[in-house]
Amino acid sequence: MAKPAVLVTGGLGYIGSHACVALAEAGYRPVIVDNLGNAKASVLERIRELTQSDISFHRADVRERQALGALLARERVQAVLHFAGWKAVGESVEKPVMYYENNVGGTIALLAAMAEHGVRRLVFSSSATVYGEPERLPLTEDHPLRPVNPYAKNKLVIEHILADCAVADAGFHYAALRYFNPIGAHPSARLGEDPRGVPNNLLPYVAQVAVGRRPSLRVWGRDYATPDGTGVRDYIHVMDLAQGHVAALAYLERRARSITANLGTGRGYSVLEVVSAFERASGKSIPLEFHPRRAGDVAQSYADASFAARELGWRARLGLEAMCRDAWRWQSGNPEGYPD
Ligand code: NAD
Ligand code: UFG
Repeated sequence: MAKPAVLVTGGLGYIGSHACVALAEAGYRPVIVDNLGNAKASVLERIRELTQSDISFHRADVRERQALGALLARERVQAVLHFAGWKAVGESVEKPVMYYENNVGGTIALLAAMAEHGVRRLVFSSSATVYGEPERLPLTEDHPLRPVNPYAKNKLVIEHILADCAVADAGFHYAALRYFNPIGAHPSARLGEDPRGVPNNLLPYVAQVAVGRRPSLRVWGRDYATPDGTGVRDYIHVMDLAQGHVAALAYLERRARSITANLGTGRGYSVLEVVSAFERASGKSIPLEFHPRRAGDVAQSYADASFAARELGWRARLGLEAMCRDAWRWQSGNPEGYPD
């Protein structure tokens, strides 16, 4: 029997590329669409190498509704994992229209193409950032939603659109997955995170310090009400996150209902704990500079991960040690990231 085809938008990106490998391992046939806006074409070769298969790739923009529709029909797509979008919080504050246009506009074009071609299962990359400043911890899915920047608002608007689509069409089912902080890499070191320019996020920055590309880590704030004064986050291994998508797809097939769930480990680590774990994993020392708090940061954010465990039958298995080990293996094996 033919393997079910799953369209992966943004499939050459950090999380999408790992999800393609997980999908192929689970018996699906990933079909990738990416406009290369934040990815390199060489990622495709790595995905093909790891999956030992000639994964189909289409360089296209999800906002091109007609092209997307034709692709859904031609590839006989049965479900979609939707990763495509811009993700830099600071940039979203400076260029809100660009963010709404790509993130919300892209999702609308995708949903229209799906409706036209009878594709009625979608897994969406939402984010824990939809919660805003935590009122209570751990964050449960029913926590108030008060996003504080355009990127976060994009995610919430899209969640609302998906809910409306599910009301309008009883046969349409989606999973909105609220990721906490994805880090790490494929254990083979063939896939990993390759940010352009100066990394915004903690782990890629630490990894670039360890490999000698940057002199020291700037720690944003040491006066938070946390055990060591630095910010606490729920880091999740990208391989676990990828598996979470396979579990969500299986849920949509099995249960035929929509779901919104946190994907995290349920455990928070401070910046200094992450740095220590990375030093142990890499054998390198990470020089630190302490700076004032970064605007928009919260003191702590971590998930109540029990809903996903109960409903999806999924839980994160890999701890901080594995996350740092695999991030280091990736960074040391690919010091300049993917080739052009
Ligand atoms: P990424 O930038 O590595 O991947 C996104 C991919 O989408 C890129 O390959 C980019 O080229 C592609 N893309 C962007 N706009 C497109 C368009 N209009 N048409 C086709 N392709 C397009 O980002 P990532 O870290 O892999 O994140 C994937 C998704 O998960 C995003 O939606 C992001 O907002 C969400 N998310 C990420 C994090 C995180 O910390 N990485 C946390 C929560 C949610
Ligand atoms: N940090 C530093 N120095 C750095 C980078 C980060 O000290 O160079 C600190 C931050 O202040 C924070 C922690 O490390 O305390 C984590 O910061 P990240 O930028 O890695 O992650 P955030 O939690 O700020 O945000 C990330 C994504 C968002 C997403 C959010 C929740 O960048 O897009 O997780 O999913 F919305």
